[in-house]
Amino acid sequence: MRPEDVAKAERLSDESYHDLDTRTPVGSWLEPAHRTAEHSRSWSRRTAHLLDTDPGGSWVAERDGAMLGFATSFTRELMWILASFAVRPGLQGEGIGRALMEPALHHGRGCLRGMLNASEDPKATRRYRAAGFTLHPQMFLRGTVDRSVLPVIEHVREGSAGDIDLMDSIDRRTRGAAHGSDHLVLIEGFRLLVTDRPAGSGYVYLRPDGSPVLLAATDRRTATTLSWEAFASSSPDQPVTLAHVTAANEWAVDVGMAARLDLHQRGYLAVRHMKPPAPYLPHGTLL
Ligand SMILES: CC(C)(COP(=O)(O)OP(=O)(O)OC[C@H]1O[C@@H](n2cnc3c(N)ncnc32)[C@H](O)[C@@H]1OP(=O)(O)O)[C@@H](O)C(=O)NCCC(=O)NCCS
Repeated sequence: MRPEDVAKAERLSDESYHDLDTRTPVGSWLEPAHRTAEHSRSWSRRTAHLLDTDPGGSWVAERDGAMLGFATSFTRELMWILASFAVRPGLQGEGIGRALMEPALHHGRGCLRGMLNASEDPKATRRYRAAGFTLHPQMFLRGTVDRSVLPVIEHVREGSAGDIDLMDSIDRRTRGAAHGSDHLVLIEGFRLLVTDRPAGSGYVYLRPDGSPVLLAATDRRTATTLSWEAFASSSPDQPVTLAHVTAANEWAVDVGMAARLDLHQRGYLAVRHMKPPAPYLPHGTLL
């Protein structure tokens, strides 16, 4: 994949994921919607960043100049991550995905561990299992936060690029690899909250609606504190989502239920040669 392919890949992925959402029960519950212009911009920005750091990690399949599918992957320290993977609806199930996964996996050949956020598409899960990944079902919690139970939170502050060394060390401890320059992209797109105390450290990136998009902490108590601070920034009449929760992160089920969010299930965290990180809620594509 070259930088000039990013816009086409973005359109193709929106089409392919939207098509998948119309075919899965949880997708229809979430009311399938195409990406907003803002979401498309951030997808493209993130993918351009991955091409910058990992020019050999992303691949496209073409026929007569038309893009049929793509896979974007990257390595951070000794971890290989598949960020995004899609084949045009109507052309799926014919081996294009297999052909794309091969060079993407090859990009991670020097890595010890691997991680990706898998959809429920049976064609995707076949590919991941065939590549040796263990599939851990993911839960998510969604609802309007019960503001009467919000605790008083202390020692959480706004974060900045000055916190990257701290965040990288928490990343290594929880998921076994730092995010490095991915933090710069995340800081551009999301609000960052940090806590750093002798008893525990952690960080969370959140959306304007208060939904965490990536959370890492040295201990469950700190992870819980950060979630409450994120929930406190939600608005009283808008739902928040606590997503990508594996069973290894039961603290997240507990804090979500304490806030009176409802528990649901969607997709898998696929990992290779590692356990699901904890206390940790992975980002959808930068994990
Ligand atoms: C996931 C995806 C990229 C895979 O690409 P693809 O070209 O469909 O994949 P392939 O044809 O190479 O492989 C599909 C596998 O599923 C099997 N398959 C084909 N049709 C199937 C169906 N309807 N149900 C279940 N399995 C099916 C194929 O036999 C093949 O398995 P095999 O190699 O063991 O025989 C593509 O299906 C897609 O874009 N899905 C929607 C978006 C998505 O979920 N992306 C993944 C995000 S994590």
